[in-house]
Amino acid sequence: SVAAVAVIGSLNMDLRVQTPRLPAPGETLIGTGFSTDSGGKGANQAVAAARMGAAVAMLGRVGRDAHGAALTQALQADGIDTSAVGQDTDAPTGTAIIVLMPSGENSIIVIPGANHRYTPAEVAASASAIRQAKVAVAQLECPLDTVRAALALAHGAGVCTVLNAAPAQPLDDALLAAVDWLVVNEIEAEMLTGLPTDTPAQIEAAAHTLRQRGPSQVVVTLGSAGLLHVGPDGALALPAPRVTAVDTTGAGDTFVGALAAGLAEGLPIPAALTRAQVAAALAVTRLGTQSAMPTRAEVEAFTPAA
Ligand code: RIB
Ligand code: NA
Repeated sequence: SVAAVAVIGSLNMDLRVQTPRLPAPGETLIGTGFSTDSGGKGANQAVAAARMGAAVAMLGRVGRDAHGAALTQALQADGIDTSAVGQDTDAPTGTAIIVLMPSGENSIIVIPGANHRYTPAEVAASASAIRQAKVAVAQLECPLDTVRAALALAHGAGVCTVLNAAPAQPLDDALLAAVDWLVVNEIEAEMLTGLPTDTPAQIEAAAHTLRQRGPSQVVVTLGSAGLLHVGPDGALALPAPRVTAVDTTGAGDTFVGALAAGLAEGLPIPAALTRAQVAAALAVTRLGTQSAMPTRAEVEAFTPAA
């Protein structure tokens, strides 16, 4: 079947450590829990889109090892086409060490491994999967040249492109010119523009600046403070559904994947944004990365707290 959403990006095995606080240098600390979960910004966004009902293809690279096999099988269990997930014989599958604090906030160290060996040539070899999609989604955990190749290919074919510019890094205007939807958090918006993003007015100014560099639609996600969307028709601020945070890992990815699914479905923009916010809010209430992402039925059944 033809994928409505093609995700070009990373796959990581998430190793999650729960601890009351971060250890000081030289200190040994007893933590409170350990779990593994399928992660990686690319794979997470693919799963979030699939759980909203989209037909999804994943493009990326894992190692020839147990983590790579487990990550690929997890995607398949969500009905995702993994025929464009390559296996690297030399590098290990990407790994993320996630340190989770009682507040639900986390610190993450990513070891890219095979993700950094995913090349523009491999994107070109999977060109048909991108050209046939309605929406192509990328992030920044693969080499920038690979991301650039994927966005250029999709944009040139008239496929709607979504770039989640995470983790934060500077981007050139040539790359941004191939982006229709740019999704960033405040830190990423600040990194891309060099502008402060401390107040709502500053965030809106940064979003307008980003639009001038190419993307016609810019979303700045603000965690529990909601989001700001700026498009051709102006700015729209949406509050976030109020939930109790257990684990925020992958909340941004849940938002991006669900948004891509909504766009592929042809939902009106405000509805696509709102549904993606609900999906992200539900993911925050549960421990885990991909395992915490809600289904479409769960999103539709959600009623916000009064
Ligand atoms: O965005 C969350 C993701 O970032 C985690 O799943 C981890 O693998 C890192 O890529
Ligand atoms: Na979570």
